[in-house]
Amino acid sequence: MQEANRLKRLPLYLFTIIDELKKRARERGVDVIDFGMGSPDKPAPAHVVEKLCEAARVTENHRYSRPDGEVERRLREAIAHWYKGRFGVTLDPQTEVLPLIGSKEGIAHLSLAYLNNDDIALVPSPAYPVHFNGVIMAGGILYNIPITPEKGFLPDLESIPKEVVKMAKLMFLSYPHNPTGAVCDIHFFERVVKWAEGKNIIVAHDLTYSDIVFDGYKAPSFLQVKGSRELGIEFHTLSKSYNMAGWRIGFVVGNAQILKTLSKTKSYVDFGIFRAVQEAATAALEGPQDCVTDMVKLYKERRDALVDGLNAIGWKTAKPKATFYVWTKIPPKYSALTALEFATLLVDEIGVAVAPGTGFGDYGEGWVRFALVEDTQRIKAAIGKIKRLLEEPA
Ligand SMILES: Cc1ncc(COP(=O)(O)O)c(C=O)c1O
Repeated sequence: MQEANRLKRLPLYLFTIIDELKKRARERGVDVIDFGMGSPDKPAPAHVVEKLCEAARVTENHRYSRPDGEVERRLREAIAHWYKGRFGVTLDPQTEVLPLIGSKEGIAHLSLAYLNNDDIALVPSPAYPVHFNGVIMAGGILYNIPITPEKGFLPDLESIPKEVVKMAKLMFLSYPHNPTGAVCDIHFFERVVKWAEGKNIIVAHDLTYSDIVFDGYKAPSFLQVKGSRELGIEFHTLSKSYNMAGWRIGFVVGNAQILKTLSKTKSYVDFGIFRAVQEAATAALEGPQDCVTDMVKLYKERRDALVDGLNAIGWKTAKPKATFYVWTKIPPKYSALTALEFATLLVDEIGVAVAPGTGFGDYGEGWVRFALVEDTQRIKAAIGKIKRLLEEPA
């Protein structure tokens, strides 16, 4: 059986290769220290788990979710309320809020909803893979905007050729940024809105990491900018802020027309979110937020342990102001290797798993990403192993 061409056009999913290497190492008895995937290692807050259990006992919740249901209405209102409190952005819960089965689902479906075969989607590179893979799966044309440390990993919109801009229908952005940990300020979003106005380009901003911020940095919402709602939407998720990655719940807010089209697309492929999960998500957004503060404290401790540790052994690495990722160049000793070769070497030789930069697009070559999902003690153990590797004669 031949798979569809759209699948053949997708780049190799490098995480599958790393997963295979980890499996092989574990079979050899190696205790792999795993910084590979951005999957939070701590549980969801206790009161949220309690709410899930309670709601799972309600028979009515076992039926298909209905957009006009009470549970659904309460969640949309909780999201709007949370946005108001968090960013000062007012949203109509009926038309400007759409819950998703995780933000990844919504991001992929946005491309399907809007891209024809001759439409371009602009995606900064490196990026979170679904930003570009969703474009390819939808049959659209991907245009990578390279982002580099010299420009703070922000895209240079003026560098995009005019003929590309003319064919562009979608642009994905995401700050705080995965994989680089880069951040932006509100002035960047103001420039984006000014640039996009009148061009008929939807700006889809992914704000997954707004809560995971350090050193006094505050992540702005794209929707805080005047005029943004005419052309933009913003994705968010409970996966990271509340350690609910496996629960599959996120949401998108902003332009009502775009949300309507996305909702229409989804109505052909899914039946919404398990109502018990929706009730628990409402509890997370409306309940005490000290769980978020505690989580950020923990990630900061891990970030400092990893970055300070790497710098102390001579692997020059910058400290990110947000996200739970550390993005760093392959050290000089191994700079002749590709990112995948270097990531392979780390698992095979010392049992440390990282994500190769090319897993996030071609412009990730030469870099690797550490996800801070191991505790401080294991981070220190990993530093010890890396130190020995870097000191070994080549
Ligand atoms: C930038 C970004 N967007 C979206 C997602 C997906 O989140 P969700 O679990 O809501 O699908 C991730 C997950 O790592 C991410 O890093």
